[in-house]
Amino acid sequence: MTVLVTGARGKVGRAVLERLHAAGRPVRAASARPAELAVPAGVVGVELVLNRPATFAAALEGVRQVFLYPEPAGIDAFTAAARAAGVEHVVLLSSSSVLAPGAESDPLGAHNLRVEQALAVSGLPTTLLRADAFASNALGWCAAIGAGLPVELPYPEASLAPVHPADVADVAVAALSGPELRGRAVTLTGGQRLTLREQVGVLADVLGRPVPVETVTRAEAERQLGRFMPAPLVGSLLSFWAAASTTPATIGDTTRTLLGVPERTFHQWATEHAAAFTAG
Ligand SMILES: NC(=O)c1ccc[n+]([C@@H]2O[C@H](COP(=O)([O-])OP(=O)(O)OC[C@H]3O[C@@H](n4cnc5c(N)ncnc54)[C@H](OP(=O)(O)O)[C@@H]3O)[C@@H](O)[C@H]2O)c1
Repeated sequence: MTVLVTGARGKVGRAVLERLHAAGRPVRAASARPAELAVPAGVVGVELVLNRPATFAAALEGVRQVFLYPEPAGIDAFTAAARAAGVEHVVLLSSSSVLAPGAESDPLGAHNLRVEQALAVSGLPTTLLRADAFASNALGWCAAIGAGLPVELPYPEASLAPVHPADVADVAVAALSGPELRGRAVTLTGGQRLTLREQVGVLADVLGRPVPVETVTRAEAERQLGRFMPAPLVGSLLSFWAAASTTPATIGDTTRTLLGVPERTFHQWATEHAAAFTAG
């Protein structure tokens, strides 16, 4: 029973692929750029581009489960092809942004909602993993911290419950391996509330040196983030941080509540990735 893992070059997708393969499950790695895939020996990589339906049939042949990254372009054609190929279950890496008030008119919320809705209409059995902010978003501070500069934040007191991408992968693998999470929508967070300022503080502890935080205007943050992200998504992110500055983060479903194992902490993530914050 082959599992097709999309996003196999991504942090979560690669971890899902490796865990399933290590457990002896037949897996296929899908990427828009299969030549750049680094997959375990014995795993086949295929091209899958969600807005190119011509790539679907070969990727889906013999597949019964899919780990799916949310991409609205081509999603209806993809679900139709998946049904035709005999897919029985889709685990979607969605986002908690779908639960925010006004999600339909927020670019990030709408992006993920569109995919959730297409899956619902398709009738394919699903598990929706609505992940909250990833711990790995802190990689956006690498350049500043590595250069010994302050981390510039428009909303340093934004309260989050960052989830370690490996926790997301563990829940995805559980969803792909047993019936417990089939048909469910879960909101994945870490087990601990931290403001963005506190996340920087954890990184400072791990690195053994002070890392100052400088508050910047929303307009300045828009300019900076706009170099790496499409403008509508920058707006979504900044509005999310603004709202999170006045409301403490909610701890949702975690590896502890879903799998009975402790959540990985932000400190653990920071320790694992400390080298990324050191000028090379
Ligand atoms: N960050 C958050 O806080 C957060 C929260 C909730 C949900 N999510 C969701 O999680 C997903 C991102 O997860 P992730 O951390 O696994 O993403 P990622 O590592 O950035 O990779 C996402 C995908 O981007 C493509 N990609 C393009 N350039 C790449 C490169 N240089 N290296 C690796 N991959 C590259 C790959 O797909 P191809 O190989 O097909 O090109 C890859 O699978 C998004 O769908 C997002 O909506 C994120």
